[in-house]
Amino acid sequence: MVERYVMSIDQGTNSTRCILFDQRGRLVSVAQHEHQQHFPRPGWVEHDAVEIWHNLRRVVPEALSVAGVEADRIAAVGLANQRETAVVWDRRTGVPVGRAIVWQDTRTASLVDELRRDPGDEYFMERCSLVPSTYFSALRLRWLFDNVKGLLERARDGEVLFGTMESWLIWNLTGGPDGGLHITDATNASRTMLMNIRTLSWDDELLALFDVPRPMLPEIRPSAETYGEARSLLPGVLITAALGDQQAALFGQTCFSPGEAKCTYGTGSFLLLNTGTELIRSRHGLLTTVAYKIGDREPVYALEGSIAVTGSLVQWFRDRLGLISSAPEIETLARTVEDNGGCYIVPAFSGLFAPRWRSDARGVIVGLTSYITKGHLARAVLEATGWQTREVVDAMNADSSVALKQLKVDGGMTADNLLMQFVADVLDVPVVRPMVAETVSLGAAYAAGLAAGYWPDLEVLRRNWHRAAQWLPAMDPGRREYEYENWRRAVERSLDWVR
Ligand code: G3P
Repeated sequence: MVERYVMSIDQGTNSTRCILFDQRGRLVSVAQHEHQQHFPRPGWVEHDAVEIWHNLRRVVPEALSVAGVEADRIAAVGLANQRETAVVWDRRTGVPVGRAIVWQDTRTASLVDELRRDPGDEYFMERCSLVPSTYFSALRLRWLFDNVKGLLERARDGEVLFGTMESWLIWNLTGGPDGGLHITDATNASRTMLMNIRTLSWDDELLALFDVPRPMLPEIRPSAETYGEARSLLPGVLITAALGDQQAALFGQTCFSPGEAKCTYGTGSFLLLNTGTELIRSRHGLLTTVAYKIGDREPVYALEGSIAVTGSLVQWFRDRLGLISSAPEIETLARTVEDNGGCYIVPAFSGLFAPRWRSDARGVIVGLTSYITKGHLARAVLEATGWQTREVVDAMNADSSVALKQLKVDGGMTADNLLMQFVADVLDVPVVRPMVAETVSLGAAYAAGLAAGYWPDLEVLRRNWHRAAQWLPAMDPGRREYEYENWRRAVERSLDWVR
């Protein structure tokens, strides 16, 4: 029998990737292209949505060709995507109205202040379980209406469409101006600040508050079900899943039971804890989000600790400071010294996300003396990721009242042994990484394959999970608490910076 594969598309913050997986969840082929990051002003981050669509058109045939197969060997396609990044485009021409505004962009900080004063955090927590932050798409839409002349009127008339990256790509894949599907899934919609977290539909009050016209919004669909044919790129092949990339990673890590958690270390890092069909409201600065919704089954929820800057701090260290020439070198450089030499870096480039939600924070380096070398700075870069994880885990333990016993990790930064050992040390729990580190892609493939009948159930997927690496905590408790206190003092110094 001819073997078939599931195709997974991961449209991330830095690149667009296409991976084919086989029935045992093994990676068959991969193709990837980076897109340009635009920083037109301090705090602004933009992507060209057309460039991303072109990259997708390149990676799909490349992944097929690496595997040596044609499209007829693809059982289904699933998408995972960077969440919250907002793009608006013309329904007739398919041309975006300016660049996509990326989830890291902080141009809406003053609107955040207004919303936190009135109607206040509680108002939003009740409806969408998110706190006002520059992070979420609705604020970007509001900014576009305020700054692009005539856009609101065009949106009211249904001339322009809004979407996060999966909506944009699915619309293009299914025909674009020529009848493309304008849809999103519940995980992505749960990050807009416009969806009611209980009903999983657009919330009239939130739409009115942000003045978002309904005709421009995509239809909210389950994360896994048949959407339509990818006819502009893969005629005859069905798209059967879409999830926000972090929810996809939770799925790829097979965290299907309440209490199971994962952390993905990418440009930012995102710790998600499955809370089952129960919606748990955080009291300690975490978000409640839709983890996945399979067909017409009840939605599964998660608590999420979102950390804005982790891998992107390493990128900054490489590209903007030029202290290393490739990301993996950070570990080598950090190993040239014994410890951080008293230096801490708080990378509040986009303010601080969970658990503090402070858009007024900006990055600081503290503890500088003439003793400090670039090796110490490299350590401080890596340790910032460890401490930010610790703060999120503390919040999660406080919210769920059951302490985390182990952390499943994935993402590019997990290749850094020094960092993973540090995470185990500061959390004081084992950290484990699966064989397939591409869990975002795997999760989208799993969801797509389930919907298409390629895999029968969740149990089969669970059996595909195999441990590849483990780090056990080894840090002296006294030192851990001393260092953690220093980190918290450093964070205090990053607050109240933006006036
Ligand atoms: O919420 C933002 C997140 O989805 C971005 O993930 O891996 O594309 O940086 P990543």
